[in-house]
Amino acid sequence: MQTIKTIAELRTIIQSARTAGKSVGYVATMGFLHEGHMHLVRAARSEHDVVVASIFVNPLQFGPGEDYEDYPRDLAKDQALLEQNGCDVLFAPSVEEMYPQPMATFVEVPELSTGLCGRSRPTHFRGVATVVCKLFNIVQPDAAYFGQKDGQQVAVIRRMVADLNIPVRIVAVPIVREDDGLARSSRNIYLTDEHRLHATVLHRALETAVDAISSGERSGSTVARLMAEQISSEPGVKLDYAEVVNATSLEPVEDLQGDIMLAVAAYVGKARLIDNVPLTVE
Ligand code: PAJ
Repeated sequence: MQTIKTIAELRTIIQSARTAGKSVGYVATMGFLHEGHMHLVRAARSEHDVVVASIFVNPLQFGPGEDYEDYPRDLAKDQALLEQNGCDVLFAPSVEEMYPQPMATFVEVPELSTGLCGRSRPTHFRGVATVVCKLFNIVQPDAAYFGQKDGQQVAVIRRMVADLNIPVRIVAVPIVREDDGLARSSRNIYLTDEHRLHATVLHRALETAVDAISSGERSGSTVARLMAEQISSEPGVKLDYAEVVNATSLEPVEDLQGDIMLAVAAYVGKARLIDNVPLTVE
């Protein structure tokens, strides 16, 4: 696996792959990689001749007081994991390479960015959409793989790609979990042993909601309340939101039918954790 630090070098590599008629699959990450990221890499590997991953902790998507400075980083371990899982090219640019001057251009998808995580992170999805748009322009992949773990992010990126005619296929990969149900996340490292136990309440609350819907519950607000109550009653856990939304528009839904997403977020100790379940209701 090659590690590339500059946009110019990456473009040369991609260009020669393209000239040779090879397809390119791409996985964007912020590093401190785990099994969740590796599922994306393996999905890309199974469908493409060349697999490109990027590691870039994007300052633009962190709000004031968020964990940009503290975000965990371990390039050597990440390189080993990526290599073992079949990545061909790692693009790991510096902040100066990605943002040589203050940005004057932004990509925003406000309709999908103000609810759910957008309420507590008002500039987050603008930062995500802008950097992912830049990364797509740099890598120009045939397909890009994103985790359903960040369900709102997938919806924002799909809409950006559709609205701006970006020629890339977006593939959503299911959430990878620990044995006890906790969604894998680079931020789980912030959890103490005690918080780690309480953190499973996000997944447990989602299971309660899925059970309720399986038993015939069809009121979005009732299902949302069930999740909120269970999360709020867990010691050491502070609920951010528990919602039932349309899978594409991310608007809250009351009559549960079609493609929906059960979505939760909570503060557990120092960490803000998110989880969701996409669901098709008959
Ligand atoms: P990061 O949090 O590093 O995640 C990179 C990709 O891995 C995302 O698509 C995310 O949804 C996926 N992922 C993380 N944990 C997962 C899990 N448990 N199961 C499945 N997929 C998982 O998301 C970002 O970085 C950034 O916002 C980025 C898109 C790179 C833009 O900066």
